Amino acid sequence: MRKNIVAGNWKMNNDLAQTEALLSNLKKQTKTSNAEVMVAPTFTNLYHAFEALRTTNIEVVAQNMHFAENGAYTGEISAAMLKSIGIQTVILGHSERREYFNETNPILAKKVNAALEKNMRIIFCFGEELSHRKSGNHEKIVEDQIKNALFHLKAPAFKNIILAYEPVWAIGTGETASPDQAQQMHAFIRKTLANQYGQETANNTSILYGGSVKPDNAQEIFSKPDVDGGLIGGASLNANHFFEIVNAF
Ligand code: 13P
Repeated sequence: MRKNIVAGNWKMNNDLAQTEALLSNLKKQTKTSNAEVMVAPTFTNLYHAFEALRTTNIEVVAQNMHFAENGAYTGEISAAMLKSIGIQTVILGHSERREYFNETNPILAKKVNAALEKNMRIIFCFGEELSHRKSGNHEKIVEDQIKNALFHLKAPAFKNIILAYEPVWAIGTGETASPDQAQQMHAFIRKTLANQYGQETANNTSILYGGSVKPDNAQEIFSKPDVDGGLIGGASLNANHFFEIVNAF
């Protein structure tokens, strides 16, 4: 059966001292829900965070990686490098990577393959922009994003794939998709998966919602049957707020 997961994406926030403070506050938190918990620090703090949280049930994950094994790709980081410091899971396809770093679905398909080759888990992000929703194209856009980056895979690969629906208009804006909008899209995503891979794969794949999830709206969003957790940006930078969201399940 699929898992409930709450992951904090710290994005390009927190220098070393701020990371240490946040890690130490995270260690003081108590998990009362059944959700798996992950945090994604910046690359410079990844190993430090991994060591600091080694004895906890919080998994440290990466925000991105390159598709090549190694070589002349200045500034990039490979799956093998992440694995070598103990990282097992990577976020791919975040809308900020798509928008500011021109990551297209074909590039993301290569990254997905590279991560799976190293037996890593992937949190694969996608979501429509406001103009798509206004014109009623949101389902088509999301379907294309999933198909073009993932549907070359065989069903067993989905054991290592977590989907994260993040409508771009809800990220960092304070405007969440309503719980019903989230449920509607998550049900559509699960149906799209079922059509391609069968109901069992669809039922076993966790689909997270991301976009302005906060302590005061998490419970209602997570109560929806096809919402299996959240990918949390701003609110994950505060350990108390983050754990209020973790414990909203
Ligand atoms: P916010 O929670 O800050 O809206 O960010 C969501 C997000 O982009 C998580 O990856």
